[in-house]
Amino acid sequence: MTIGPDQSLAAAVSEATAILRDAGVPTPRVDAELLADHLLNVGLGRLRALMLGDTPAPAGYAELVAERAGRVPLQHITGVAHFRYLELAVGPGVFIPRPETESVVQLVIDRIKGMPSPRVVDLGTGSGAIAGSIAHEVPAAEVHAVEFSPLAHAWAAKNLAPLGVHLVLGDLRDALPEFNGTFDVVVSNPPYIPAEAIPNEPEVALHDPPEALYGGGADGMELPTAAAASAARLLRPGGYFVMEHAEVQAGWIAAMMARAGIWSGITTHQDLNNKERATSAVLAEPDQSE
Ligand SMILES: C[S@@+](CC[C@H](N)C(=O)[O-])C[C@H]1O[C@@H](n2cnc3c(N)ncnc32)[C@H](O)[C@@H]1O
Repeated sequence: MTIGPDQSLAAAVSEATAILRDAGVPTPRVDAELLADHLLNVGLGRLRALMLGDTPAPAGYAELVAERAGRVPLQHITGVAHFRYLELAVGPGVFIPRPETESVVQLVIDRIKGMPSPRVVDLGTGSGAIAGSIAHEVPAAEVHAVEFSPLAHAWAAKNLAPLGVHLVLGDLRDALPEFNGTFDVVVSNPPYIPAEAIPNEPEVALHDPPEALYGGGADGMELPTAAAASAARLLRPGGYFVMEHAEVQAGWIAAMMARAGIWSGITTHQDLNNKERATSAVLAEPDQSE
């Protein structure tokens, strides 16, 4: 099957849907429409209206469909990822933000709502999805972000500069020592995939940067453990830490934090699919009785 130059938009989108379905793309019709809209830039409602008439397929459509059929992520082709209220610039070298992380942002927003000028840091910011959303939705917040990969840092800089986020290139394990003990919230979606658990989807396995995926160690727990240690270092007493993780890690993370003896209110949170995908806790206040 090929997409021909003289086809109508409707016929080309139908054919593109079939090509993408054969290639194993999970949402072939939506992707076919979004690729057409990327070229026509009319919005999905108008695109569907145009498909009712005899509008021709846009030039270059076959090439984009072929790229997507090769399992290049849709967001790398369009250059855009939608996350909460933001449209983030993304491409090779940066992790594409996922819908489940939007719930992690909501936990932070619920926590800082009503604080006069909350100070928040996002460890391993990638595209800047978490930090940028918090800065956008809570304008009173002072938001910092840390990213280790120079390439991801460049994407984050592009996305976060207009939102006033303070971004540093650094390692979450020792970044921002000048702010130790000062943040109200530390949030992180660190790399956490176990070394052997190579993702099945080519979009993830071949296009998300490895340093964004693998947490280190057979159980993927090295960077999540380091993020919790850095949260303890960066938070003020009574400050709030929330971290995304794999479902299988929920029990390990709660146990690791309980063992540290410095966290209270350790809580596991479910994502929209009822999977235990985030854990939060409050840094204990110093014991006044001694
Ligand atoms: C799973 S991605 C999450 C990106 C973004 N926070 C999000 O939710 O879309 C993890 C990010 O942490 C970064 N990272 C990996 N190791 C790091 C380290 N030691 N210090 C800081 N960032 C690190 C990766 O480059 C990647 O951008």
